[in-house]
Amino acid sequence: MRLSTSSLTLYLTLFVLLAFVHALPYGNFWNNWPSTTTPQPVTQPQPQSQPNPQPQTKPTRKFRCGDEPGSYCGIYPPKQTTVSLTQKRLFSHSKMVANKYKLAIIGSGNWGSAIARIAGMNVQRYPELFEEQVNMYVYEEQVDGKPLTEIINKQHENVKYLPGITLPDNIVAVNDVVKAASGADLLIFVLPHQFIPGICTQLRGKVSKNARALSMIKGVEVKDSNIRIFADVIEEILGCKTMALSGANIANEVAQDKFSETTIGYREGDLESAEIFHKVFDRPTFKVGMIEDVAGVSLCGALKNVVAIGAGFCDGLEWGSNAKAAIMRIGLMEMKNFSEEFFEGVKAETFTETSAGIADLITTCFGGRNRKCAEAFVKTGKSFDVLEKELLNGQKLQGSETAREVYQFLAARGKVDDFPLFKAVYNISFEGGVAQDLASKL
Ligand SMILES: NC(=O)c1ccc[n+]([C@@H]2O[C@H](COP(=O)([O-])OP(=O)(O)OC[C@H]3O[C@@H](n4cnc5c(N)ncnc54)[C@H](O)[C@@H]3O)[C@@H](O)[C@H]2O)c1
Repeated sequence: MRLSTSSLTLYLTLFVLLAFVHALPYGNFWNNWPSTTTPQPVTQPQPQSQPNPQPQTKPTRKFRCGDEPGSYCGIYPPKQTTVSLTQKRLFSHSKMVANKYKLAIIGSGNWGSAIARIAGMNVQRYPELFEEQVNMYVYEEQVDGKPLTEIINKQHENVKYLPGITLPDNIVAVNDVVKAASGADLLIFVLPHQFIPGICTQLRGKVSKNARALSMIKGVEVKDSNIRIFADVIEEILGCKTMALSGANIANEVAQDKFSETTIGYREGDLESAEIFHKVFDRPTFKVGMIEDVAGVSLCGALKNVVAIGAGFCDGLEWGSNAKAAIMRIGLMEMKNFSEEFFEGVKAETFTETSAGIADLITTCFGGRNRKCAEAFVKTGKSFDVLEKELLNGQKLQGSETAREVYQFLAARGKVDDFPLFKAVYNISFEGGVAQDLASKL
């Protein structure tokens, strides 16, 4: 019997969430489930002096937006969004024009263009809060003999990376990153991760330290036994506070206004800056949640691409839905364990309750470029470098690169064997391991 994609997705969501909820009290999922025969109570024992012990309940986390009655606004925001259109600016500098935030988007690929469309519409929606023009840095290239910046500014369409979608005309393509970012109070970084250090180095000292940045990059920076999320890389080079946005966001679907959610992970105590970015992105069909966990949101976005390579191997092997669900379950546990082991303050809820966590994992393992290329890897025997060129039309494949970086980091720390899925994905991708052996490696 064939399951439809939606029922399969629902089944997998429920399976993974139920499994996770079951596992959380026991710490190590793999060792304790399903072999545990006597389930332990989830709640702490109540003190005896309490005559009528009540079961512990979690605080309600869902909320509704203040400015749009009835609209569901997020998964885990600690309180209602409070940015008022008239309040004193939270961060400002002498060059701020008419006390409005100026936005710049650094990147213009598939996701960069989709998100520019949303940001362009929202700054027009809140003219009291934002300057209308939004610069978008475009890495210049020729398309049909014309510069891509010229095409975008005349046709209001990124014909190479997001064809068929009209960009608002307040989005201005600029081929010089320093000019694009000039005077910006809000900087959105949305480039494949390999270009970030070079781009940020060009911007060093040219961006106000009072600005706020947001990283949409799905990847990690690894140097030997050190690992960093790109929000930290950007913050260190530019000196301005940087948060992260990630979620179940296949760019073409978001660009067509098909409903999706996303998550902003913000720094401790910096909810107010996150709320400004909430205003930049939240729309009726693109709902933005917020959680105080920059590392968790960033790591979900990076590590789920490694799991998606494993899911793509399953598809290439035609192993079916159960196998893919198993890869996703194991993958989610490795993502969470990896993040908690190597980063401080990561929250389990980011993995289980936000769009950046479980939802992005599901969408990436069913759609997305990493799954697609991994399926082709098994079916054609071609390398990921070749498949990236053949299948992605200039887009970058992040999952295989992240698999390599994560493996190198784990090897440097002597921890490879604690993450059998990550190890197997690397082995099959780069060491000539046989894809058919995937299950036996887990
Ligand atoms: N596409 C999606 O569905 C999606 C969704 C969420 C997040 N993301 C993440 O967003 C980030 C950007 O992805 P994307 O889809 O916008 O990009 P992309 O892979 O579609 O496009 C590649 C981009 O890199 C630029 N580029 C190429 N060479 C360059 C160089 N030498 N220097 C600087 N730029 C260069 C190209 O001009 C193009 O804009 C990635 O980290 C990705 O994982 C993507």
